[in-house]
Amino acid sequence: MSPAFAFLGISIIGTWGLATIGLIAGGIILLFFPGDPTTASDNTLGGVILLVAGIASGGLMQMVVGPLLGIDPPLPIRAKSIIPHAKMKRWVSAGELRDFPDGLPKEVRMRSRRITIIRQGESAYAINALCSHARLPLAGFPGSPVRAQKVQDDCVMCPFHGARFEIQSGKVVIQPFSSQFNHDHPFLGRVQSKLMFWNRTAEDIQTYPVQIEDGNVMVGLPK
Ligand code: FES
Repeated sequence: MSPAFAFLGISIIGTWGLATIGLIAGGIILLFFPGDPTTASDNTLGGVILLVAGIASGGLMQMVVGPLLGIDPPLPIRAKSIIPHAKMKRWVSAGELRDFPDGLPKEVRMRSRRITIIRQGESAYAINALCSHARLPLAGFPGSPVRAQKVQDDCVMCPFHGARFEIQSGKVVIQPFSSQFNHDHPFLGRVQSKLMFWNRTAEDIQTYPVQIEDGNVMVGLPK
């Protein structure tokens, strides 16, 4: 990407972000700090309009900018959109089995899909890379404090808010923000469960069929 194009993109996103913050801040000020009631006019409607416009702008921004940065928008994935394994017959190599750490989720890109491979000894499983709760990566952000968690009881735990999924079926077995997770992770758990009051559940997650061929992890993708 040329520097000029990158600069233009950053300028547009930055201006959009500042405008969004301005709208939300303006709405909050009008609603909660209206000034002296004897002299100030009633700005409740204006405050609500600014706040709604700011939140809508922020949501839209996440949906537009997120994918450009490789982050999908924070929308839950409905179980009904899950594709059965029988329909996944386009076999693609994810790499050699020995290159995947045993029991630790590792994300790979396969034909533009983000997939997490989980090696269990001489077997491997493939599951959608993005958690169905807030579409954050199940393998965490490598190098950051939020990293992939070891598989336990054949379940992978999302490191962000603690949802657990069976690695074979993709079924959600523990919802995000369990009391145990909130206790162990005060910020990611307790604090964020309050901030994300509108989205506290995860759906079942897409899995993919896997075959090991000559030491290669072959993943079946939809045609
Ligand atoms: S993003 Fe996975 S539990 Fe919230």
